[in-house]
Amino acid sequence: MLKGREVVLGVTGGIAAYKAAEFVRLLVKQEARVHVVMTKNAREFINPLTFHTLSGNPVTIDPFALIEEEKIGHIALADLAELIVILPATANIIGKIANGIADDFLSTMVMASKAPVLFAPSMNVNMWENRVLQKNIQTLVEGGYHFMEPGEGELACHWYGKGRLADLNDVLERMEDILSPKDLTGERILVTAGPTRESIDPVRFITNHSSGKMGYALARVARRRGAEVVLVAGPTSLSSPRGDIVCIPVNTAEEMMEAVFANFQDCSVVIKAAAVSDYRPKEVSPTKLKKTTPCVSLEMERTKDILGEIGKKKGKRILVGFAAETDDLIANAGKKLKEKNLDLIVVNDVTKPGAGFGSETNQVKILYPSGDIRDLPLMSKEEVSQFILDEVAGLLKRKSKIKLAT
Ligand code: PMT
Repeated sequence: MLKGREVVLGVTGGIAAYKAAEFVRLLVKQEARVHVVMTKNAREFINPLTFHTLSGNPVTIDPFALIEEEKIGHIALADLAELIVILPATANIIGKIANGIADDFLSTMVMASKAPVLFAPSMNVNMWENRVLQKNIQTLVEGGYHFMEPGEGELACHWYGKGRLADLNDVLERMEDILSPKDLTGERILVTAGPTRESIDPVRFITNHSSGKMGYALARVARRRGAEVVLVAGPTSLSSPRGDIVCIPVNTAEEMMEAVFANFQDCSVVIKAAAVSDYRPKEVSPTKLKKTTPCVSLEMERTKDILGEIGKKKGKRILVGFAAETDDLIANAGKKLKEKNLDLIVVNDVTKPGAGFGSETNQVKILYPSGDIRDLPLMSKEEVSQFILDEVAGLLKRKSKIKLAT
């Protein structure tokens, strides 16, 4: 989402200005094009050279700066910006913009821009609670400006309370949210992620290499695109997704099935990225198995095929399956597409470097009931998710057109 996007970062005069340097580094890592504008007070806290070096772009500090020879500085940046982030945002800049005061480069540029603006406030708790500031924020929110909620804790001024700059990764997530199309608004999407664990005894279990990254990426992107998301996730080491996602943690295939069945009725889309155990030990020993014999055999039984069961009760829902394959990709995935009554199946060759389990990236083919196949290059799991959700959005649109026509 942020790759190649023109982001103007306004830095104002607060102690958290030093965190803006780290923020520029994070934005550059996401391949955003960053243009920093500093107020006069911000320059008391941090040197413009830091931002110039990190962003690779000139830093604007002069109200009368010209970006290119013939263009007026604040207008050029105001037009260029796809998103303006003010971090840290002081009570002063919030007050100025809320009241239409444009007396320096940053406030003038914000007023001249049609780009969305996100404020990340940071200040003393008493300033944050001040009624005048809160009224200014309310005015801005009503005017369509976006705000990060400051964090709570010990502040630089040694007071304790609300006023800390929001977590920088939360700000990035919010930026992605603002820039995302909202084409899945009104849809409720159930995503499964991660592995399942089938106990052998109180100490040991059978599982697989799924990290949950693919399913979590799908959940994040679906939420950004406006969907209500329910994420049923097996045990992973990932931190809970940011934002408003209902997370249901499960361990076993049986628990996953119960959670999916309790939630899929209200969902218009089900995406099963989880790697569910196909077998489980027929009996779970209540005590730890002892090493008494050189070999041990476990009797295993099949778990229920969750996706297969939903396929039978599909109704008007869109069902997306995944297939983790090592050979005969198309034939194996094609069989699952038919047998489970899916609208599409995403197949990954889990033996390929950078694809499948654990990696940040994936390389997939999408198979359709028509027999069509879409072959995607290696890309991040979020980019794969965007592709899958583009397909889902297209299917939902087609279904609603058919509904309108009948
Ligand atoms: O989690 P990551 O580390 O990011 O890795 C991503 C991934 C490799 C796990 C993911 O991309 C993937 O391929 N997920 C599906 C893995 C899998 O179980 O594939 P399968 O071919 O065994 O199952 C086919 C489909 O049936 C899957 O949608 C699966 O969720 C579903 N299934 C399988 C068994 C079962 N008992 N119930 C099911 O619903």
